[in-house]
Amino acid sequence: MVPIILITFFFIFPYIAPAQSYHSFKSFKLPSIGSEAYAFDSKNGGPYTGLNDGRVVKYQGPELGFQEFATTSSNRSKELCDGKNGDDAKVGPTCGRTIGLEFNHKTGDLYIADAFYGLMVVGSDGGVARRLCYGVHFDYPDGIAIDQVTGDIYLTDLGSIFSKTNNMTDILLKGDSTGRLLKYDPKTNQTTVVLTGLAMPAGAVVSGDGSFVLIAEYVACRITRFWLKGPKANTSEIFVNLPGNPDNIKRTNTGDFWVAVNIQKLNPKLIVFPLGQKISPDGRILETVNFYQEYNATYVTEVQENDGLIYVASIYTDFAGVYRGLKC
Ligand SMILES: *[C@@H]1O[C@H](CO)[C@@H](O)[C@H](O)[C@H]1NC(C)=O
Ligand SMILES: *[C@@H]1O[C@H](CO)[C@@H](O)[C@H](O)[C@H]1NC(C)=O
Ligand SMILES: *[C@@H]1O[C@H](CO)[C@@H](O)[C@H](O)[C@H]1NC(C)=O
Ligand SMILES: *[C@@H]1O[C@H](CO)[C@@H](O)[C@H](O)[C@H]1NC(C)=O
Ligand SMILES: *[C@@H]1O[C@H](CO)[C@@H](O)[C@H](O)[C@H]1NC(C)=O
Repeated sequence: MVPIILITFFFIFPYIAPAQSYHSFKSFKLPSIGSEAYAFDSKNGGPYTGLNDGRVVKYQGPELGFQEFATTSSNRSKELCDGKNGDDAKVGPTCGRTIGLEFNHKTGDLYIADAFYGLMVVGSDGGVARRLCYGVHFDYPDGIAIDQVTGDIYLTDLGSIFSKTNNMTDILLKGDSTGRLLKYDPKTNQTTVVLTGLAMPAGAVVSGDGSFVLIAEYVACRITRFWLKGPKANTSEIFVNLPGNPDNIKRTNTGDFWVAVNIQKLNPKLIVFPLGQKISPDGRILETVNFYQEYNATYVTEVQENDGLIYVASIYTDFAGVYRGLKC
């Protein structure tokens, strides 16, 4: 195991250099694994994150740590679900499996993508979330992006191959382009399909000026841009190609983006090298940070900058990772 990692490490390292390292790292214990994304509320409270047992938890400070905020399944019981693996098809439909999440900062509502229940919303007091998009079939909802001006919600689903097999290794080998970008309009309750043929769209974000939405295509190792406004409205283009598989993408308060990128090799076992890349609104990679020292070969799902700190999420860890940056 170790020699394989070392060989891979030296093989891929020149590829990603220069990589900056962040020295101060802290981890905050989560009640369960499966934390895929972070959200902060309008008062910058949080972070909030979804767990694989169907809970959304909120960080309440050093004494209380992460506490339950919301759940997605109305027939979920703590005894049956807390600490269980909602990625398991026997558990998930009862307990829920919360993934992407983002607040609408005007209304204070938290929108949640649940693998089994689709798009959900819960008010700022938490509790059991309400299901939206009744009658719409999703193939594993994952990323959420909110247009903070219009209130429109963009949601990705990973596609029919992943939703049937749940096997990333298989998809890395064989590919998949059955993912979609959907839009939910809270003013009309209408859901429309915006883009099809996406290669496992694992994350999405709306630009600060609301002119485009970015979609991270995991299998294609790239970010696609879909224009919402302007002369190119309703068209899409490649925004940036990446050295590995991207997951969530989040905006900074200055309008740049952080994307979690995982360089993965089948060698013959799957080896992962986790990175964060900061990208400008015109698609330039501004900064590459590697998390190898703290995460080893653990796949990371999100990198988010908030208040000078970098929050890293991985569905495989039972902690939330926080870096204090050198520059930010
Ligand atoms: C809870 O609801 C889900 C969806 O309606 C259903 O699949 C599951 O069987 C229910 N679980 C229990 C324990 O009632
Ligand atoms: C996932 O796919 C790989 C490659 O096709 C296969 O070798 C492996 O057995 C699959 N894993 C599971 C749990 O089905
Ligand atoms: C949308 O759904 C909500 C809750 O189900 C309902 O109160 C509202 O009237 C609906 N709006 C429209 C325009 O149908
Ligand atoms: C983009 O598509 C939407 C929905 O189909 C439509 O309402 C709008 O007019 C289109 N805009 C342009 C500039 O084509
Ligand atoms: C990475 O490896 C170190 C040393 O073995 C270990 O202490 C740490 O828990 C590992 N981190 C993760 C996220 O697996």
